[in-house]
Amino acid sequence: IKPSVYVTRDIGSEAITLLKNHCDVTIWNKPVPVTRDELIKNVAGKDALLCLLTDKIDSEVLNAAGTNLKIIATMSVGFDHLDVKEIKKRNIKVGYTPNVLTDATAELTVALLLATSRRLLEGSEEARTGGWKAWSPFWMCGPTLSHSTVGIVGFGRIGQQVAQRLKSFNIKNLLYTGHSEKKEGLEIGAKFVSLDELLRESDFVIATCALTPETANMFNDLSFKKMKPSAVFVNTSRGGVVDQDALIRALKEKTIWAAGLDVTTPEPLSTDSELFNLKNCVVLPHIASATIETRNTMAMLSVKNILSGLRNKQMPSELII
Ligand code: GLV
Ligand code: GLV
Repeated sequence: IKPSVYVTRDIGSEAITLLKNHCDVTIWNKPVPVTRDELIKNVAGKDALLCLLTDKIDSEVLNAAGTNLKIIATMSVGFDHLDVKEIKKRNIKVGYTPNVLTDATAELTVALLLATSRRLLEGSEEARTGGWKAWSPFWMCGPTLSHSTVGIVGFGRIGQQVAQRLKSFNIKNLLYTGHSEKKEGLEIGAKFVSLDELLRESDFVIATCALTPETANMFNDLSFKKMKPSAVFVNTSRGGVVDQDALIRALKEKTIWAAGLDVTTPEPLSTDSELFNLKNCVVLPHIASATIETRNTMAMLSVKNILSGLRNKQMPSELII
């Protein structure tokens, strides 16, 4: 008898086929997140769960699953949607997908930084709607990366690869902050500073940190006030690291110059969010890892995490909780 797995979305035929070769698979096949009721109903009695960052896995879901559940694999690097304390209590192993999305996410972070600072969406909109009257000396201008100071909050795999890519833009100073100085900082030529110093000195502030109780709302009124009025803020981590109302105030009052967000609170962001009315804000729909190759690799890795876990073998990417 094959182990049973619940999969909370269609993650592509290659990954699903591999999983079906070894397991009895039930899939939520709609193109929207599984409802809480469906999740709770379908996870009951399963041996493994393959979920996405849109699924909140807490004690209610774990209780509904019952004692058969041994493996959870999330198709994401972030795991703030998982209640790891409750999962650990039940001796469930967790797989996730670090590394394979680092390049795609770093690329998108740089793209979003440039789109925000060089006003790409605003400019394109002007061109399309007749706002482009003539080439003008200071029209659609923004800050340059060259000779600037860039601060990275969360110098993990993704933060480091953002730094690596930005070096080719002739940055003057690369700063980072986090728990401690890292050897990779020295290698890349980035300087470890306090969060305060980073906020005060940086022309570009980039958040690539994980969402934890410690980083929740770390970008708040006070943080934005510490930043330069010319600063550009970019977030490709989680919406929860930002006090979004404070950000809206900062953008309206020009406490900072602009923001580029791949992540928001909530997701999707309501179309009447004030952020959409601010010309100095670029909002993307959480697409940092969205290259075809990366998403397929994430799906395959999630399946391999499940298959190894079910066989009591070392998962390719186990999250140690
Ligand atoms: C995306 O945000 C991820 O955590 O993989
Ligand atoms: C965070 O998980 C990272 O990969 O930087």
